[in-house]
Amino acid sequence: ALARRIDRPIVLVGMMGVGKSSVGKRLASLLGCPFVDADEEIERSAQMTIPEIFENFGEDYFRNGERRVIARLINESLEDFGGHIVIATGGGAFCNPETRALILDKAITVWLDSAIDTLVERTSRKDNRPLLKEGNPREILTRLREERAGHYSQAPIHVVSGSGPHVQTINKVLQGIS
Ligand code: S3P
Repeated sequence: ALARRIDRPIVLVGMMGVGKSSVGKRLASLLGCPFVDADEEIERSAQMTIPEIFENFGEDYFRNGERRVIARLINESLEDFGGHIVIATGGGAFCNPETRALILDKAITVWLDSAIDTLVERTSRKDNRPLLKEGNPREILTRLREERAGHYSQAPIHVVSGSGPHVQTINKVLQGIS
């Protein structure tokens, strides 16, 4: 087996652009379990894109929906298939105290981190992050990464993702959870 038998959801946390979704998808397929992207799940249940939710209802509303969706994903996976799932969260999810407590209590939490240059490069490929529209993306990412490091570091598993292909990162995550 690639990893010991997983009986809790694996939840990926960390900054925008670090590769939580790409790494999560590959990891899930290696482990033979489902993958869910919490941001996509929020968009599906709200029937709106994340920029639309921010624009129409604001960040607090989004955080509240995000907490509910993540709680539902974690609890349903534990009830329905023994916690055998990989969940990618949006970059701010783990910074909400209630969401963080829930994840730490019920999941195996993995913090993915990258150098700022990598985050800037990867976030520049997609135009769907409202927080990066408020100014210079590099400055915003630098500030958020500093503000959030204290939260992210509460994750028991810490993996640094380089600027190259995700395969090395995935191997480090597998080592971390084994
Ligand atoms: C956010 C990250 C985004 C998304 C929203 C807010 C954040 O997810 O949830 O734009 O606060 O860092 P990604 O980390 O998948 O980009």
